[in-house]
Amino acid sequence: MTSKIDISERLIKWHSSFGRHDLPWQKNKNPYHVWISEIMLQQTQVNTVIPYFEKFIKQFPNIAALANTDEDQILSYWSGLGYYSRARNIYAAAQSIKNLHNGKFPEDYDDIVNLPGIGRSTAGAILAFSFNKKYAILDANVKRVLLRFFAIEEPVNKTKTIKRLWSISDSILPNQNISTYTQAIMDLGATVCKRSNPKCVDCPLNDGCLARKNNASSRIPVKNKSKDKPVKYSQFYIYEYNKRFFLIKNTKTKIWSQLWLPPTEPIFQEKLNRDDLKILKTGERSCTFSHFKLSYKYTHIHLCKEPNDNSFGLWFDFIDLTEVGLPAPIKKLLTELSN
Ligand code: ADE
Ligand code: SF4
Repeated sequence: MTSKIDISERLIKWHSSFGRHDLPWQKNKNPYHVWISEIMLQQTQVNTVIPYFEKFIKQFPNIAALANTDEDQILSYWSGLGYYSRARNIYAAAQSIKNLHNGKFPEDYDDIVNLPGIGRSTAGAILAFSFNKKYAILDANVKRVLLRFFAIEEPVNKTKTIKRLWSISDSILPNQNISTYTQAIMDLGATVCKRSNPKCVDCPLNDGCLARKNNASSRIPVKNKSKDKPVKYSQFYIYEYNKRFFLIKNTKTKIWSQLWLPPTEPIFQEKLNRDDLKILKTGERSCTFSHFKLSYKYTHIHLCKEPNDNSFGLWFDFIDLTEVGLPAPIKKLLTELSN
């Protein structure tokens, strides 16, 4: 079997010819860039992340710029990436860095992992990429490579399995070139040891890989028995007046917190005469979150008259919809309705 030293050596060698070298967050591996890119990459594919990362860094070139803006601004730059708690945590972490660390990104593992939104693997990636420190990572790609290489046929969401994987990930770290190694194992998972049809012929670890030897790579990672996601229901009243939509900032802590949404109650129906309202369209859509599915009906209502009391929300011009923190499916729906 391939020895543990071999794994990192081979990955580092492999990376020089076959790894990814020109990603925008590799240009300048300062902890701020690495942090933002790692958070974006947690639930989003590299190709989607690239333009978001570039716009984000252009708008907020450093931690000070980020700490001095408001949450709404950050959310508007996140619009379309989903999992908005990531953006809210970035805002909170920028405040912590400003207040607890004099505005300088901390270099100590405990300080980093205590920042909002940063777990063990992201802390490890920041330490390895930016500070060349010997810390392990364990994201979904790395988990898959290790599970297959060692032919671990245990459900991956079990605490025991995750503990075992962390200990393996720690034990195979190289003493040098930790940054290249870390990028290499991520890249191997993303481009060679892919979820389906891994390209074992091209894999630098193939002669030691137990999944390959046992012809088991298609059943590893072992799937968890998962139940269907529960469904939640909602309703949106999309009021349009004078080429503007009425939106309310969602201050509840549940999904889409701090983002702008159409009212979920028919707030203007009673305040206006029947003749001042015209229903243009109704429909139903759904979107999927990590733990549930949201099914929502919508009613698009044209107003001929501006309601008196609308202080609890704001009217947004159609053309301004890209500037405001809106959940992607709602932005898409409003854009369609405005055409
Ligand atoms: N996924 C998570 N971190 C990554 C990185 N640095 N490069 C490519 N994909 C990643
Ligand atoms: Fe993955 Fe195949 Fe490489 Fe094993 S040999 S680590 S299954 S790509």
